[in-house]
Amino acid sequence: MNHDSPRSALALRRLVNGYQVTQAIHVAAVLGIADLLADGPRRSDDLAGATGAHPGALYRLLRALSGVGVFHEEEDRTFALTELGAGLRSDAPEPVGGWAAFVGEPYQWQAWSALLHSVRTGENAFRHVHGIDSWTFRAERPELSASFDRAMTSLSRLVVTAVLDAYDFGRFGRIVDVGGGNGAFLSAILARNPTARGVLFDQPHVVSGAGPILAAAGVTDRCEVVAGSFFEAVPAGGDAYLLKAILHDWEDAPCIEILRTCRQAMADGSPLLVIERELGRPNQDPDAKFSDLNMLVGPMGQERTSAEYAALFAAAGFQFAGVTPSAVGTGVFAAVAA
Ligand SMILES: C[S@@+](CC[C@H](N)C(=O)[O-])C[C@H]1O[C@@H](n2cnc3c(N)ncnc32)[C@H](O)[C@@H]1O
Repeated sequence: MNHDSPRSALALRRLVNGYQVTQAIHVAAVLGIADLLADGPRRSDDLAGATGAHPGALYRLLRALSGVGVFHEEEDRTFALTELGAGLRSDAPEPVGGWAAFVGEPYQWQAWSALLHSVRTGENAFRHVHGIDSWTFRAERPELSASFDRAMTSLSRLVVTAVLDAYDFGRFGRIVDVGGGNGAFLSAILARNPTARGVLFDQPHVVSGAGPILAAAGVTDRCEVVAGSFFEAVPAGGDAYLLKAILHDWEDAPCIEILRTCRQAMADGSPLLVIERELGRPNQDPDAKFSDLNMLVGPMGQERTSAEYAALFAAAGFQFAGVTPSAVGTGVFAAVAA
């Protein structure tokens, strides 16, 4: 293969310029353009009026995004939503808008600007740039915390159906979702399994946003909401404990602490279900590999293999019981309290 061919150079340049596409989609998501196009094509000046944007600059944004298939430019500066761009609608079955809004936030963007620091030192980029960890930073900034929670809810919806199709949570009576965010995953489990009851556990400023999500799923009366820290104690008496997208946020030592806190609340023999991406084989699954880098930059965690999860379980009093894969690369890593 000729690596110096103009085509390779162009392909490489597109990858290099990926940050421009990220920020352009972020802006379209924050302005809510996809929702404004939900009922059909509109002129960019009209969209500028509706969003308070500069007409000329908004036209240039929409034109660029039409070049990568997010919108479709028609005559007379009119734009329509494509199938791809419809994923930015707030009522999309698998919404991506919340994630697009979050990844382009200046504080998150700045953390990624220090990836070189992380790669040189192995240290966390977020702390290097902002001086504190990402959880404390957001806890002190309610708007950013809400945007992050929306991003998590949006990501969760992307994998929830696949995970629920792959794994039967209906076999458990009382399910404790540890670090369950504002309840999107637990709501979906309870909605699909009408006899199950849930306990949503997360930090106080996070569970305070759970009410509308539980209500929208019609599960409020079957879900207890408990605030606290998974480094201190989690609710006892569950038939199963879930940790979804939690362990990948942390290095091994804090993961073992979280698992030990869960173990203390759990009866011998009860199941712990860790829902995470499978890291995948070399040269495959860039989503998992880039999520792993995102963990290095943001919360200072990592994606892991089954063997790495098994080692964490063993260190915290659990026995690994196997992984159930789903159709989207996220698996259910099961362990039993030993
Ligand atoms: C990546 S999010 C995953 C949320 C949810 N499980 C999901 O899959 O959408 C990580 C969650 O861990 C929670 N978290 C972080 N530190 C925590 C702590 N000390 N105690 C309880 N929850 C915590 C965050 O508030 C956040 O909701």
